Amino acid sequence: MMCSSFSVDSLPDLTGRVYIVTGGNAGIGYETVYGLASKGAAVYLCARSESKATTAITSLREKLQNPSAPIHYLHMDNMDLSTVVAATNTFLSKESTLHGLILNAGIMCTPWEESTDGYESHWQTNYLSHYLLSYLLLPTIQSTALNCEPGVVRIVELTSAAWQMAKGPGIWFDQIALPKHEPYDRYCQSKLANVLHIRELQKKVGPKAGDPVKGEIWVASVHPGLVETGLSANFATTSVLGRTLLRMGMGAPPDKGALGSLFAAASNDFKRDWSGGYMVPTAKKGWTWRWANDKDLQEKLWKWTEDQMRWKGFLSSSIRL
Ligand SMILES: NC(=O)c1ccc[n+]([C@@H]2O[C@H](COP(=O)([O-])OP(=O)(O)OC[C@H]3O[C@@H](n4cnc5c(N)ncnc54)[C@H](OP(=O)(O)O)[C@@H]3O)[C@@H](O)[C@H]2O)c1
Repeated sequence: MMCSSFSVDSLPDLTGRVYIVTGGNAGIGYETVYGLASKGAAVYLCARSESKATTAITSLREKLQNPSAPIHYLHMDNMDLSTVVAATNTFLSKESTLHGLILNAGIMCTPWEESTDGYESHWQTNYLSHYLLSYLLLPTIQSTALNCEPGVVRIVELTSAAWQMAKGPGIWFDQIALPKHEPYDRYCQSKLANVLHIRELQKKVGPKAGDPVKGEIWVASVHPGLVETGLSANFATTSVLGRTLLRMGMGAPPDKGALGSLFAAASNDFKRDWSGGYMVPTAKKGWTWRWANDKDLQEKLWKWTEDQMRWKGFLSSSIRL
């Protein structure tokens, strides 16, 4: 349940800042774009469909009562990693700074599907494409952070409490597609990967012990709660628990569901020592256990993904974080 006093109104003025939100055309992502833009930020809305993005941008501008609000469509289909590279290049041809990256796009319990790149759809949509996007944008995020006060520049990755329901070793490196498992198991594994990714980013670029310094990037994984979106509709059709919770009216509306992302991405009340952590509704530090705290697993997943992206030719060997 949502219980914090945090609201979009309590965000600071974001004029002059630039954000990217993946999956910004619907649900929590749409409301995240709205929250950031309502405070004056320029926002790049990543979507796989130009018509959905255009419709969303038109409706966001109406809601903002600002027909020229700087919300821009950035084409990116998480199921095709070449579009992640292209989206990065398009973004970098237009902007030299990036204050916040919100890795939000996701699917849940969709039928078995393989991406253009040969990965299972939950794994690629929810995790892999976001790993690649953040990796490619990190040099720009880091240079932005060097020119800002500590804490301004952040990376937020949407996870789900479902990460706790991952099975076996958490991440099944020997059968990452989980071909013999249920769709929900694939979702849980991908959402655990989101938490582990943020943990490893924290080690690489997050705040260190001691005083805040320019260049540090604050990062967080966020569970938005049960939110009534296209995703939870899927949850309701594929799970008795989901159906029951939604029937009981336990799902929050998307604007409330976006509060956790907005808090972690831009609130002055997000604390430095929460960086790297797992946030739960709303605007609170969550509790982690088992795989999420396994430093070897965090590192192993990073290395596995980096090797895959190099092998597929999406990362050049000259960049290593
Ligand atoms: N809703 C919840 O209760 C809940 C709970 C826990 C975690 N979450 C997390 O919150 C995030 C947002 O979910 P939501 O509830 O807002 O779901 P949603 O309303 O279904 O929105 C998902 C967004 O991701 C986009 N997307 C899906 N596949 C894509 C692809 N291949 N390429 C580009 N974009 C793609 C969708 O675009 P299209 O419109 O083109 O499909 C849409 O914009 C997800 O990461 C989800 O795991 C949600």
